[in-house]
Amino acid sequence: MSDHLPGPQLRRGDQLPRLVATAPGRRGRRVARQARRVETAGLAPPFVDGGAICWSEALGSNVLDVDGNRYVDLTSGFGVAAVGHRHPAVVRAIRRQAGRLIHGLGDAQGHTARAELAAVLARRVPISGARVAFAVSGADAVELAVKTALLATRRHRIVAFRPSYHGLTFGALALTSRGHFRSPFTRHLHRQVRHLPYGCDLALLRTSFESEPVAALVVEPIVGREGVIVPPAGWLQAVHALCRRYEVLFVVDEILTGCGRTGRWFAVEHDGIEPDLLCCGKALAGGMPLAAVVGRAAIMAAWDSPGEARHTATFVAHPLACAAALAALEVISRQRLVARAAALGRRFGSALRDWPGRIHAVREVRGRGALWGIEWKTAAAAHAFVESARRRGLLLLGGGEQGRVTQLLPALTMADRQLEYAVRALSQAASE
Ligand SMILES: Cc1ncc(COP(=O)(O)O)c(C=O)c1O
Repeated sequence: MSDHLPGPQLRRGDQLPRLVATAPGRRGRRVARQARRVETAGLAPPFVDGGAICWSEALGSNVLDVDGNRYVDLTSGFGVAAVGHRHPAVVRAIRRQAGRLIHGLGDAQGHTARAELAAVLARRVPISGARVAFAVSGADAVELAVKTALLATRRHRIVAFRPSYHGLTFGALALTSRGHFRSPFTRHLHRQVRHLPYGCDLALLRTSFESEPVAALVVEPIVGREGVIVPPAGWLQAVHALCRRYEVLFVVDEILTGCGRTGRWFAVEHDGIEPDLLCCGKALAGGMPLAAVVGRAAIMAAWDSPGEARHTATFVAHPLACAAALAALEVISRQRLVARAAALGRRFGSALRDWPGRIHAVREVRGRGALWGIEWKTAAAAHAFVESARRRGLLLLGGGEQGRVTQLLPALTMADRQLEYAVRALSQAASE
């Protein structure tokens, strides 16, 4: 199919939308027909239903579909393209690495990009004397963090929250709260996880810690996919303090919030918290699949045993992904994207603040930095808004347990004119 496509068309990533055809158009529908014959329904993109588009190219904040429509991407590909899609420094690093070593030997033998990246990450996280362990995906990192906590504490219980999203592999799914993901598999999920309400009364947490020894508490500093929920001021700090008191490991899932997204390198830094273990992924490698757990040395030492590594994967610390991550982290520093995320937050905040009073269908707007959620009174209103924004050339993702929250997670490199266009067009789409 790609043989029939024209060559790359996006020359820059800072352009406004340009819609030339109804999406999906002729090409989009052709890809959809092909995919439907062989891909598994329910696991593949809908392509046609719900106005889904078929991506052809992406650069910066622009996405081009196969029918020639150009969009401004307010999803940054699930929060991955924080430095923008196909950032030139990331592309250069991947090309350079691909010219030397594409695949290594996982945990058995090292390579230079991996060693360099571990050093950079250990310096970057708000944990003193940190040690790094690599993972392939966000869910893999969450499982690695939980295993680390079990090994280090020799306890079994885990406390997680409702709502939360920590991934969908079996170990991570036991922590993820949404029934839709869990219910067909409940009998296979381990039963050592207690779910408490996110932002809950601390007395509840204390009771939980006192009723049985808990190995770890796993928390998103801002709930992401399940509704962009910012906890009450001081809650995270108080939870952290309770964890310290009961010797429960404080594990922060920064897979979405990390790498600058909320206006700090890591969202726990807003609260001055030093976690025991921190999971990061998504934006870490500028678009390549890579995740990591970074933790206090004394805790990570629990893995130190003779014989083969007890947690690994064929593609762990993949050389291309490590090289891309080194470049992406460097771009975030050099282009001051953490401060840029904070500035995006101020702009989105001022643009969206009056929506709940002004737009009848909106219940609440909340967020921080370049991570915002618009909660609608009904899922239908949320869906209509995403569609209306798409007709104005903006790509958005839905979220929340009942599909009532629209997420805004743009690239931190989003151009000012794209930002101003987005703010205007979102308001029009909401008032339609
Ligand atoms: C907070 C959080 N944790 C974990 C995950 C799972 O990451 P992955 O999809 O890479 O397995 C996600 C993905 O959205 C996430 O947002």
